[in-house]
Amino acid sequence: MGEQQVKAGLDGVIATDTDISYLDVENEEIVLKGYDLIELAEKKNYLDLVHLLFEGNLPDQNGRLSMESALKDEYTLPDNFFQLFSMLPKETHAMDAMRTGISALAGYDGQIDDRSTEANRDKALKILAKMPNIVANSYHTLQGEAPVPANTDLPYSSNFLYMITGKEPTNLEAETFDQSLMVYSEHEMPNSTFAARVIASTNADIYGAMTGAVSSLKGNLHGGANEAVMHMLLEAETVDGMSKLLHEKLRNKERVMGFGHRVYMKKMDPRALLMKKALHKLAVEQGRVDLYDMCVRGEEVIRDEKGLYPNLDYYAAPVYYLLNIPIPLYTPIFFAARVVGLGAHVIEQHDNNRLYRPRVHYTGPRGLQP
Ligand code: SDX
Repeated sequence: MGEQQVKAGLDGVIATDTDISYLDVENEEIVLKGYDLIELAEKKNYLDLVHLLFEGNLPDQNGRLSMESALKDEYTLPDNFFQLFSMLPKETHAMDAMRTGISALAGYDGQIDDRSTEANRDKALKILAKMPNIVANSYHTLQGEAPVPANTDLPYSSNFLYMITGKEPTNLEAETFDQSLMVYSEHEMPNSTFAARVIASTNADIYGAMTGAVSSLKGNLHGGANEAVMHMLLEAETVDGMSKLLHEKLRNKERVMGFGHRVYMKKMDPRALLMKKALHKLAVEQGRVDLYDMCVRGEEVIRDEKGLYPNLDYYAAPVYYLLNIPIPLYTPIFFAARVVGLGAHVIEQHDNNRLYRPRVHYTGPRGLQP
């Protein structure tokens, strides 16, 4: 093999053709099946995006209603499913409980090994439909609380928030949460999506691919950052406290959670901008503009000191805090929203597969005698 240069972290490597999404950094656009994700998030709702990624087009009113009822038909979990969560140690992280739940679903799916587009789409929809139940009720069970049944009178995303908090969301809360699911839904080839495609490329099933993606997303360099951002804001307590805490982190050469991005590098993540606006609206309504001001101060410090900008997790975290979502559920919600993108990628991988098997640049010894 010719001496090829290793691309650390596969930085800049083009891994596959796809018609699902593309980060057009130049034009600051997240392209999703030809649409601008931010525009979709401002004008449409999460189920429109699910229809777009699974059916290939934005739905009309009937299309949206039939997508809503197809999901509602699959909300429930098998009867003895919650025993699974009650057997876990109560210290189990919400991401690990969710990962266990998704993995266990495999045993209940008769078409698990059918890798046709239709079968994979059915399975992806089933997983998406069950995510609110798995995320909310694995957490309630581990907290020793009774599971919250779905409220099928509510739209998908409002029911998701209801199952977490036990309270029917206000219009602003419902709209904000739905928008957060849209901006978390799909983002080209992040580590967790790549993990799912690598697993699917061996002809492994979608449940295995999703389980691998959960494991990847939990890391704080990836999805786990949103939970870490909220702990940082609570530690800072005030605007000045935020400034002091961040300067201390920078002095200690620490990574500041919620900032930087492999692809956006020296630009603001367009999704962060949308969640920043959403945070401001919520903060004004709830009299918590101090929290918004803390985030803005943090942005200024890191931009001025490191030339780095916030990513989506930085502003999604305080939005979830004002929506009364328990902090351990921030990353599980990120994953639940991303199930639609992951499903689309597994379908695309199985529809036109080539096993992922890269090579190495060997730096070890040669010719040793045993
Ligand atoms: C997500 O890929 C996706 O699309 C992911 C995601 C999605 O939707 O799926 O967008 C979701 O994962 C967002 C990212 C969430 N993670 C964090 O917020 C964790 C903090 N951020 C970083 O660790 C970092 O910015 C990464 C991991 C996001 C990107 O890291 P890279 O591309 O590997 O960059 P790098 O580690 O090579 O850093 C380049 C320089 C370094 O400085 P030097 O050592 O060269 O002097 O920038 C510095 C880093 O030290 N740097 C940071 C920093 N991020 C980069 N310094 C302080 N704080 C940070 N957050």
